[in-house]
Amino acid sequence: MCGIIGYIGKKTNIQKQLIDSLKTLEYRGYDSAGIAYVTDKVNIIKSKGKIANLEEKIDREEQGCLGIAHTRWATHGGASDNNSHPHRVGKVTIVHNGIIENYMEIKSLLEKEGYKFKTETDTEVACALLDYLKSKNIWNNLEVIREFAGYIKGSYALGIIFDDDLDTLYATRKDSPLIIGLGKDENLIASDVSAVLKFTKKYCLLDNYDIVKLTKEKVQIYNKDLKSVCKEQLEVNWNVEQAEKNGYDHFMLKEIHEEAKVLKDTINEYVENLDSFVDKMPDMRKYDKIHIVACGSAMHAGLIGKYLFENYPEIETTVEVASEYRYKKVFYDDKTLVILISQSGETADTIASLRKAKEDHIDTLAIVNVVSSTIAREADQVLYIRAGVEIAVATTKAYLLQVAMLMLINLKLMVEREKIDSSKLKEILKLLKSSPEYVEKVLADEKKYFKIAEKIYKDEDIFFIGRGIDYAMSMEGSLKLKEVSYIHSEAYQAGELKHGTISLIENHTKVIALMTDEDLALKTISNIKEVKARGADVILITTEKLDSDFEFVNEKVTLPKVDSYLIPILAIIPLQLIAYQVAKLRKCDIDKPRNLAKSVTVE
Ligand code: AGP
Repeated sequence: MCGIIGYIGKKTNIQKQLIDSLKTLEYRGYDSAGIAYVTDKVNIIKSKGKIANLEEKIDREEQGCLGIAHTRWATHGGASDNNSHPHRVGKVTIVHNGIIENYMEIKSLLEKEGYKFKTETDTEVACALLDYLKSKNIWNNLEVIREFAGYIKGSYALGIIFDDDLDTLYATRKDSPLIIGLGKDENLIASDVSAVLKFTKKYCLLDNYDIVKLTKEKVQIYNKDLKSVCKEQLEVNWNVEQAEKNGYDHFMLKEIHEEAKVLKDTINEYVENLDSFVDKMPDMRKYDKIHIVACGSAMHAGLIGKYLFENYPEIETTVEVASEYRYKKVFYDDKTLVILISQSGETADTIASLRKAKEDHIDTLAIVNVVSSTIAREADQVLYIRAGVEIAVATTKAYLLQVAMLMLINLKLMVEREKIDSSKLKEILKLLKSSPEYVEKVLADEKKYFKIAEKIYKDEDIFFIGRGIDYAMSMEGSLKLKEVSYIHSEAYQAGELKHGTISLIENHTKVIALMTDEDLALKTISNIKEVKARGADVILITTEKLDSDFEFVNEKVTLPKVDSYLIPILAIIPLQLIAYQVAKLRKCDIDKPRNLAKSVTVE
């Protein structure tokens, strides 16, 4: 969603500090951007569009050492200069990430008090409420913020500057992410730790309703009762270079090429040896049902999990989109395990689903990338993937590791249900430890996949088909393509296409067919022939074991010879690379596709 950064400290070129840090948050949303900085007063500059547009407006000569900045993913009110943050009402200036659900109710209360509003945003209302509470009472600023929380329904992370205290940066959060960067004679607030890296690797996390008072020298944190609280000081274990492109044209390509390394890091953490593997995986013996809940690509990884859990340990598994799960009637009990999958650990719908399960006293297990994120902290158990920072909005390496983690969980479920003996387990664990080498082999064929991209990048409708696990992988392949290239694409169960959608197949319609499941291969071939008979151009992704001349397909990608257990990790890589190259050929904004944000922290 939106990105927030606030700085107070020794550096005086405040505009540069804010803009440079804001750029590291641009992947969170980029409809507009703005800064507020203090000289002898609060100055605000904001602009529709990317941060580069804002940069053109600022006067770098002006000095200051306190400021807040924001990059926006529009929720209330379109992308415009006027709706951009920071917002200023009366003697208060704020930046906000989240949604104030009851903002209309508060707005009419404040209009009765004489407030007039210039924008369509919920944030301006939040700012006016702070100003109203400040002006109507003799409270100090901490008390104003505490009272503010009592009015609000919804989510917020706020950076706040009060005119009567221009040496202090205030902040607070509820359900939207916000961290505190702990520097030397400088302190920061940010939506995520990547924005503070150039200042410090030390940071701390905030709990809901915490209120922060930052000066150059001091960080004071209070709970909702205004009691001073201490927070654990954490340290980032990666550096700015890792957050840079390292010579690749785009973060997406860089992150695809990191997949072998991060897979090795993750597998090695959990599979040092047989005993450690069993101990590191959660005890799941009591469960007879699993719900996997996530959004987007994380949900697609969950589809792979369902296939694995039902076919190997034979445990009933459902996969649900979190935005539905959080509101629907759910049938679970103390023998159900709810697994939440989230790269960011901050996706609002997935958080809400987690909280729903916990309210119903159902056990929860999270598969998360961002350490100490909300989902990681609130789930009963968490299994971290070690993808490192993932900047590209379209996830690649994190998705692959989510699948790998589900494969590890699957093995543990098989052990607990005596569906695998120790020699077979050792064999598969050894195979998993060698999986990074297979990833490298697939990546080495990059040029092959780029050639396929050249054949399809001008198309406007591309279908993906597959059966069983191939359908699950088709879902992710289709989403990757849509996200970065803006080509309309649909993934279909290969056997389902003929029940209607095949009417869309005409001469040279592109169909990407996944065929890696040996048991279903012949059926998939029949479906390929069905679309071929209607004029489609078919690109087949298959395995060395299933390979044949297949003269009826137009293009073919054959994965390297590997045990079928590793296919779910490997088969997605060609689809990621094809999507990347198609987007590049279409000159799309690959790392920051239009309308998207890396972490959807509002519902
Ligand atoms: C994937 O490329 C998208 N960026 C999106 O579908 C993403 O997977 C989804 O929003 C879930 O995000 P999360 O994993 O951070 O919860």
